[in-house]
Amino acid sequence: MTVSRHDFPPDFLWAVATSSFQIEGAAQLDGKGPSIWDRFCEQPGAIADASNGVVACDHYHRLEQDLDLIAELGVNAYRFSISWPRVQPSGQGAWNDKGLDFYERLVDGLLARGVMPHATLNHWDLPQALQEEDGWANRDTAYRFVDYALGIQRRIGDRLKGLTTHNEPWIVAMLGHHHGVFAPGQKNETLAWQVSHHLLLSHGMALRALRREGATAELGIVLNLSPMHPATESPADIAKARLEDGQLLRWYLDAIHHGRYPEDVLQALGDKAPLIESEDLAAIQTPLDFLGINYYSRSVVSSGEPWDAKAQGLAVTDMGWEVYPQGLTELLLRLQRDYPTLPPVYITENGAAFRDEVTHGRVHDAERVRYLQQHIQAVHDAMQQGARVHGYMVWSLLDNFEWAFGYSKRFGIVHVDYATLKRTPKDSALWYRDFLAGKA
Ligand code: FCB
Repeated sequence: MTVSRHDFPPDFLWAVATSSFQIEGAAQLDGKGPSIWDRFCEQPGAIADASNGVVACDHYHRLEQDLDLIAELGVNAYRFSISWPRVQPSGQGAWNDKGLDFYERLVDGLLARGVMPHATLNHWDLPQALQEEDGWANRDTAYRFVDYALGIQRRIGDRLKGLTTHNEPWIVAMLGHHHGVFAPGQKNETLAWQVSHHLLLSHGMALRALRREGATAELGIVLNLSPMHPATESPADIAKARLEDGQLLRWYLDAIHHGRYPEDVLQALGDKAPLIESEDLAAIQTPLDFLGINYYSRSVVSSGEPWDAKAQGLAVTDMGWEVYPQGLTELLLRLQRDYPTLPPVYITENGAAFRDEVTHGRVHDAERVRYLQQHIQAVHDAMQQGARVHGYMVWSLLDNFEWAFGYSKRFGIVHVDYATLKRTPKDSALWYRDFLAGKA
């Protein structure tokens, strides 16, 4: 027996999620400034299919149609992100009215359809003009971010259900500044840890400023978290898994909840540890109204050859990520145990990429339906054991620009034909609609 919507509280948030750079397109229109992802896409070899976000899903021009799609699913919330360079092209100073208008139409269009808006301020598309002054590596960017947050609050804050500062700061810091595989493509570990500190600092300062400004939305941050399992019981694997847990999970949650970075991580970093000013951690510790968690799979950590789920014969998605729903239950219960003062949690992203094909106007993505069912069940299992989860958001509404993979990975419950930009709801969209109607 699978779980149904009726097994969840009536005010539980059911949503679909997207992000600005991945769907909007209109990269150079109506006064938008370039973002670091616009620039990164120009680097040869940076994006697997050599694509970019110039058109993407053309959501900017198809807003009304996409809002109808969202409403037809029967969700009560929608998670989207705001492109900072669209609303403030240089990341400071002048605002772009046409950009602000777009988000105002988005928010009002959602409300008119009975869907609550959940906005994210930073889903990675930093204004390129700020990158030219070292971007997140520069402490000053944190102050610019606070001004940006206040600008958004003044324009649309009164109509938002939720407002997230950053999406997945670990990714921005590590993939963007240490491994160099995401924008801005830096390869400097010391810089990466400084970036992670500045992201957290800007988050805490923005929360304080937003509350002073009278924000009514629930305020929070979104982290990418997974249980870290050692590949074997060897002391080396166990030690490595513990350290990586510190770098991914405890670095962020200890800072937010206890106002300190984990000692073992600081020690391992040695002189790569970030510079921290005396009041920084107090700002970072500003209480959240919610914690957003993006969950896709567990991590299995090996001190030798990297562990590979597919080679182990396990079920994987088109990203090669293991399908491991029980990891979500495990994670939620672990957070409840280790951070008992945690605010309620939203699963702000969960979903899977598969190689979908349209046949006779249909996409039979049975694997995605199963993936979503299993993960919703996993959330329910955790709630039965005491986890305070207030919502679940599917990644993603549409197939879209999957960062360094370009358009080669399809995460949508709605298929996008990139030649015609036609949207076709997949079986998973029809299933989600039935589930939300209490019929599946
Ligand atoms: C997350 C990102 C999101 C999407 C999914 C697959 O890390 O937040 O934009 O790319 O992964």
